[in-house]
Amino acid sequence: MDEAALKILKYGDVALKVKARAVTCIDQRIAELAKAMVQTMHQAPGIGLAAPQVGESLRLITVDTSVGEIPEELLVLINPEITAAEGFEICEEGCLSVPGYSLSVKRSAKVFLQAILLDGRELRLELDGLKARVLQHEIDHLDGILIVDRISSLKRTLIRKEISQKRKSGQW
Ligand code: NI
Repeated sequence: MDEAALKILKYGDVALKVKARAVTCIDQRIAELAKAMVQTMHQAPGIGLAAPQVGESLRLITVDTSVGEIPEELLVLINPEITAAEGFEICEEGCLSVPGYSLSVKRSAKVFLQAILLDGRELRLELDGLKARVLQHEIDHLDGILIVDRISSLKRTLIRKEISQKRKSGQW
């Protein structure tokens, strides 16, 4: 077990519902948090993680669709923003904060990303496919939105019931 792994908060935790604060300066603390988040994401294993999921209300996300296989694929993004989006795609999506659920979520097919990197440089990227999806999912976390909030209210009611039962029996 990697000692740097952080605890991932689960659906139902109020911290996941809060809109995260922008990062105003990049310091040692942010660098260490980012490093621990990457390790936690890889260990989970997951393809994306947002700071609110580990209890930090900051606009910081990590994305790696290769799950540690390809170092160049890793993105650590500060204050990420989608400046434009095109098309749509409805695909099944999971979340480390909603373990065991795969939900159909509508996302933009292509997004234009603007973010700050750990070294302070500004990044502008055009993303599509899985990367575009993960980015939208993680930015949702920064705004207190989970995949459970992006499905029909009928389905959401069922899932909420199921999860609250799991919580009562200590399985959540
Ligand atoms: Ni998630």
